[in-house]
Amino acid sequence: MILVGNAVVERNLAAGVESEIHVPIASDQDVVVARHKGRALATELGFSGRDTTLLATAISELARNIVSYAGRGEIVLRTTHNSDRPGVMVVARDKGPGIASIEQALREGYSTSGSLGLGLPGVRRLVDEFEIVSEFGEGTTVTVRKWKG
Ligand SMILES: Nc1ncnc2c1ncn2[C@@H]1O[C@H](COP(=O)(O)OP(=O)(O)O)[C@@H](O)[C@H]1O
Ligand SMILES: [Mg+2]
Repeated sequence: MILVGNAVVERNLAAGVESEIHVPIASDQDVVVARHKGRALATELGFSGRDTTLLATAISELARNIVSYAGRGEIVLRTTHNSDRPGVMVVARDKGPGIASIEQALREGYSTSGSLGLGLPGVRRLVDEFEIVSEFGEGTTVTVRKWKG
């Protein structure tokens, strides 16, 4: 596990080195920790307050899904760059039951738990890039990227 404080993120960015933070997810408290660390990383990269909140919300939804459906997993937060701006990459992964129908899971208003959260379609709207790989019975990995505005 690599734990990164803000000063380290700043130095790494200046040196062109990407930072990586692993947050184990198994409880509601871990969801809060992941949200916090995502917020700190986005702020450090100079994200606007609004974009920071959107990213933190996406991280919460993904972490909550891990707790709800897989029991445990992890959130990996990384600084990243495209050709002209920095961004945050979030990988939410678990070895839980997987998603039987990704198409259905991405449908607005679809939930197997009756929850009223933003859900995966909401996460998709909050970020710039969104990808799900899920093998039924093997686990789920959701990767999202949000670029600094
Ligand atoms: N990590 C996951 N592992 C297994 N199934 C998942 C996972 N994330 C989401 N799902 C499935 O996809 C559905 C849609 O997820 P989501 O859009 O977050 O809605 P909600 O969590 O409110 O049900 C869930 O009801 C669940 O069946
Ligand atoms: Mg959900």
